[in-house]
Amino acid sequence: MKRLESLGEVSGKSVLLRADVNVPLADGEVADDFRIRASLETLVWLLEQGADVVLCGHLGRPKGEDQSLSMAPVEGRLRDLLAERMPDLPSSRLAVLENLRFNSGETSNDPAFVAELIEGRDCYVNDAFGASHRAHASIVGPPPFLPSAAGRLLAKETEVLLGLREKPRRPFVAVLGGAKVSDKLGVVSSLAKRVDALLIGGAMAFTFLAAKGHNVGASLFEPDFVEECSKLLASDVRLLLPTDLVAKGPDGQVQQTGVNLSEGWAGFDIGPGTAAEFADEISEAGCVFWNGPMGVFEDDRFAAGTKTVAEAVAHTPAYTVIGGGDTAAAAKAFGFATESIGAAAPDFDHTSTGGGASLELLEHGNLPGLAVLSS
Ligand code: 3PG
Repeated sequence: MKRLESLGEVSGKSVLLRADVNVPLADGEVADDFRIRASLETLVWLLEQGADVVLCGHLGRPKGEDQSLSMAPVEGRLRDLLAERMPDLPSSRLAVLENLRFNSGETSNDPAFVAELIEGRDCYVNDAFGASHRAHASIVGPPPFLPSAAGRLLAKETEVLLGLREKPRRPFVAVLGGAKVSDKLGVVSSLAKRVDALLIGGAMAFTFLAAKGHNVGASLFEPDFVEECSKLLASDVRLLLPTDLVAKGPDGQVQQTGVNLSEGWAGFDIGPGTAAEFADEISEAGCVFWNGPMGVFEDDRFAAGTKTVAEAVAHTPAYTVIGGGDTAAAAKAFGFATESIGAAAPDFDHTSTGGGASLELLEHGNLPGLAVLSS
């Protein structure tokens, strides 16, 4: 994959920079600027080299020009953060385009939209790791037409995740959670061949529990995927499922239960026995990849499982990678640092800015946005 240096002299050139600044907004303000800060290194490097930068990104999944998803708040935060690093930079050296997805040509990878994006630009840099699993116009469109390179963030994310895929420190333990098994079956199957243990929590565990013949009551589960889960369970992968749960009953009562639920009961968190078992696996690992909460951690009654896993991942001597907005949000909610604060190191070796992208890179070993930068 070509690095920034491969672009040669960029001074005086106009560089199209695709960044993943898709951040949560609350009341029209940026609620979490992690991705914006993670994009700064490449932006600052280009500006320091004397390039003029046109930064583009998407925000949410707008239907048409939905002004509540305008890039204005993102641009505001980006310029404030940049001013801390480069106080004397004339603002005209950086232009920020409006939400790429306001134009339907972005997601359909319309050549006319690609032409519009590259018009007047001399080079292209992709630093949008979190969006590089999308074959969208701003990701795969420019490289055939402009000298192109990966930004610092894209290069770092790729190196860390491919490192996990190709030469992980053993034992390699993957912890997967989240709602839908259908979203993650591909990565579960691919990881199953590479890891020493796969720990499954979150609502996705119920499809596996159903495949084992347990009664999942009113829990979220996906009947269409039971068969595929059965096949995985029959393979020789070491797959650990919950052995106890925290469940809610038909009258709203919450209690610790086993994994056979009565009618009307639904599981919302892994139980303490499962959490302890998962924590033991994590503490003895050589490297850990964690994606997805173990339960509905936003509700205190169902937070304990995710909290125990977060603590175990933060404290294990293993090399740790966490990924996905929900996972980072959970870790932060329990007081763990996903970034260095002053001289203090973060609690995880790497917090990926991409949820779907990190899973797809682990699954396939490549992404559409990376492939075009190497071809
Ligand atoms: C993300 O938030 O995961 C990336 O920015 C990609 O967004 P998308 O899932 O809407 O394509």
